[in-house]
Amino acid sequence: MSKLNIYYSLPPLGEGSGRGLGLGHELLSSLIGSPDRLFVLTDETTRRLCWPLVAQLPCLAEAQHITIPPTDENKTLQTLASVWTALQQGGATRHSLLICLGGGMVSDLGGFAASTFKRGIACINIPTTLLSMVDASVGGKTGINFGGLKNEVGTFCQPRAVIIDTQFLRTQDTANMLSGYAEMLKHGLISNEEHWAELLRFEPESPDLGLLSEMISRSVAVKERIVLEDPTEQGIRRALNLGHTAGHAFESFALAKGQPVLHGYAVAWGLVCELYLSVRKCGFPQDKMRQTLQFVRSRYGAMAFGCKDYDRLLNLMQHDKKNTAGIINFTLLGGIGDIRIDQTATPEEIRDMLDFYADCFA
Ligand code: GLY
Repeated sequence: MSKLNIYYSLPPLGEGSGRGLGLGHELLSSLIGSPDRLFVLTDETTRRLCWPLVAQLPCLAEAQHITIPPTDENKTLQTLASVWTALQQGGATRHSLLICLGGGMVSDLGGFAASTFKRGIACINIPTTLLSMVDASVGGKTGINFGGLKNEVGTFCQPRAVIIDTQFLRTQDTANMLSGYAEMLKHGLISNEEHWAELLRFEPESPDLGLLSEMISRSVAVKERIVLEDPTEQGIRRALNLGHTAGHAFESFALAKGQPVLHGYAVAWGLVCELYLSVRKCGFPQDKMRQTLQFVRSRYGAMAFGCKDYDRLLNLMQHDKKNTAGIINFTLLGGIGDIRIDQTATPEEIRDMLDFYADCFA
């Protein structure tokens, strides 16, 4: 694999099609090629808000629609089966193509449906959220939640292409923008100081969309480089898990309490925790940890938990699928861009990390 076929649609995909075919249409049309049947998968939200922005494109005129219920709690076997059924009833063959138009839930589930239907049909991701532009739609991880665990069943299967069109971000609220921005912050931390500093200067709540588009391409380039080196996460791709060991525990904890939080919020809090561990265990500079903490605290608020919840959080970290043989696995940093995968921490060190978080975010 030499590239991940990530394209940026500028001008926007739908633009120009009223007065003749626009560049976006040419791009999409050439990537679609000539499948025997074309399907567009959306969830109810992206069908309503995002499909109208591309509905007039001639290359999508013949597409059959599959619409699934939105949000992560519907990323289930039942929804997956409904997509297989729709593909089957729509006459899909191995020469058919599925376009996933939506956030991470749509590309995760749609990518899984495509990678398994008739042992695999092609798919193209058109991400519509910041989170899916910079993370979920890129890199070929697909899957569904199963048995109470997130992304428990899935495949590694690269989409034929990913088309990033930032016009869809106009449909995003601030909370979802911030959620995606946390993954960009992670990419900055694992790349270099200049990239990280640019991210801390930016205001994701009131974004300049032109500058954000450039920052998205820099962010995706970080992920692309890593995925090309290690597509199936045997080693360096674990760098992308920075912030996610603590982050997933926060996310599951909040869900279990009936107060779910957006993925990126949990990752932002997880980044702070894991930078603290990085300071303690790998010599990450204190001042850079503090600057990142300040950025996160002022935008993402805090996760509410007390000492009585530490055992539960530890337990959730122990059950993270990134672990081997019960040892809690972290990706840490010796400095910005100095990635240390396969780091462990003792329960005492993790409690100390949670104390630090609770003190800083009190
Ligand atoms: N979201 C992390 C990865 O794609 O590996």
